[in-house]
Amino acid sequence: MSELFTHKNKSGLTRNLIEALFPMFEEASAGAIAVDRDANITWINSSYAQLLGLGDPSQVIGKPVRKVIPQTRMPEVVETGKPLLLDIMEHNQQQLVVTRLPYYDEQDAIVGAVAFVLYDDLQPLTPLVSKYRRLHRDLAAARKALARKARNTRYSLGDFVGGSPAALEVKRRARLAAGRDMPVLLLGETGTGKEVLAQAIHTASGRADKPFVGVNVAAVPENLLEAEFFGVVPGAYTGADRRAREGKFQLASGGTLFLDEVGDMPLPLQAKLLRALQEGEIEPLGSNKVATVDVRVIAATSRNLEAMLAEGSFRSDLYYRLNVLEISIPPLRDRLADLGVLCEALLGEISESHGVRADITDAGVAALAGYDWPGNIRELRNVIERALTMGEDGELLDADAIFKVLPRTSHRQLSPLSTRSVRPLARIVAEAEAQAIEEALVTCRGNRTRAALLLGISRSVLYEKLAKTS
Ligand SMILES: Nc1ncnc2c1ncn2[C@@H]1O[C@H](COP(=O)(O)OP(=O)(O)OP(=O)(O)O)[C@@H](O)[C@H]1O
Ligand SMILES: [Mg+2]
Repeated sequence: MSELFTHKNKSGLTRNLIEALFPMFEEASAGAIAVDRDANITWINSSYAQLLGLGDPSQVIGKPVRKVIPQTRMPEVVETGKPLLLDIMEHNQQQLVVTRLPYYDEQDAIVGAVAFVLYDDLQPLTPLVSKYRRLHRDLAAARKALARKARNTRYSLGDFVGGSPAALEVKRRARLAAGRDMPVLLLGETGTGKEVLAQAIHTASGRADKPFVGVNVAAVPENLLEAEFFGVVPGAYTGADRRAREGKFQLASGGTLFLDEVGDMPLPLQAKLLRALQEGEIEPLGSNKVATVDVRVIAATSRNLEAMLAEGSFRSDLYYRLNVLEISIPPLRDRLADLGVLCEALLGEISESHGVRADITDAGVAALAGYDWPGNIRELRNVIERALTMGEDGELLDADAIFKVLPRTSHRQLSPLSTRSVRPLARIVAEAEAQAIEEALVTCRGNRTRAALLLGISRSVLYEKLAKTS
């Protein structure tokens, strides 16, 4: 130890103080260590060596302290010359309270630093430490929420609920889309989760910490669309703002631009959008200069774009530009096997926001399966919410509670097999089988083991049949 303080320190007082305090600190602490100007270990006492689990303390002398204690902040102390009087350091899942001090030579140059482990047993500090941990956790959660808010996204892939073959295929393609920086076209009826999926793809992509900017083409008046997309330079037209206004393309720079209801885009704007996508360049309104942009476009529509191509209301060149990777989200009526898990997820969300603990019976789920869901999952959510508020015994939804709120008119009419025209027997058998499997899955809320049991077949046979029909 003695050579550590043969240097004269910054001032006589500092030096004397440290020299006087050192033995006390060393003895009272659970460990002490010293490093030189380059953060290499010059000394370590035996209690610290033991705490760190070092067999032979002399082995670490001369080694960079980071190599021996990865979480150490001693390099920072020698670098900045600022002491870290109180810090909590984690080592091998153990929390150590440490203090670190720089020390100087006569010319006031830093020659190294010493550190003491004040406590290795945080038992007496438990309330403080648990508060620290809680704050740490809260901070991490708040940071995450903030980052999400900054990006403007709420959903990730886990929020797209469903375990049916069709839903799994949607998720598989979404993951594929997240991994590649290409345009994506989302097709699906209203309420099938296009917005959920667009955000989820962005969140899982390399652009996740850049903005996600959505623009609903159908909601913006036609004469404002161009400015909305490409921005406006000051004084571009009479009444235009004197300040420049950024368009969605600029706002999404580096991130993702979500073009919702892209089928509602007027033809002149389609041409401009095509150019922006092709050249990566945009021209703000009133400007004669082009600006380059880097955005990934995810487009969505509930319209039949192919029919629009045929009638000339959607440009085919734009269609092929947008449709590099197509994800078609099936309507709820085609994946009724997901009703059970969807109900659970939605009830979970609704329960949380209403502060009640709600559930649904198997019969309740079966009742939902009788409806054809033109509004898809959005409508399912509304129905469940309404059933909960109307229901007398409130928190457990059974078939009756569901029937009370389901629109009766559009109940699905499964035509009995006998009334359909005569077709090859194999087709009729296959259809009857598919229908039976679907009904079993609905009844069992997507639980395949139970569905197989109901159908009197093995689980593997059920999987085989599902694979064939999907
Ligand atoms: N797979 C899903 N899992 C869980 N919730 C879903 C799913 N799909 C949709 N939802 C919920 O349904 C509602 C509607 O979803 P979303 O807004 O993504 O639909 P959309 O396809 O964009 O509809 P629209 O064409 O009407 O804009 C949202 O509340 C969303 O949380
Ligand atoms: Mg939408």
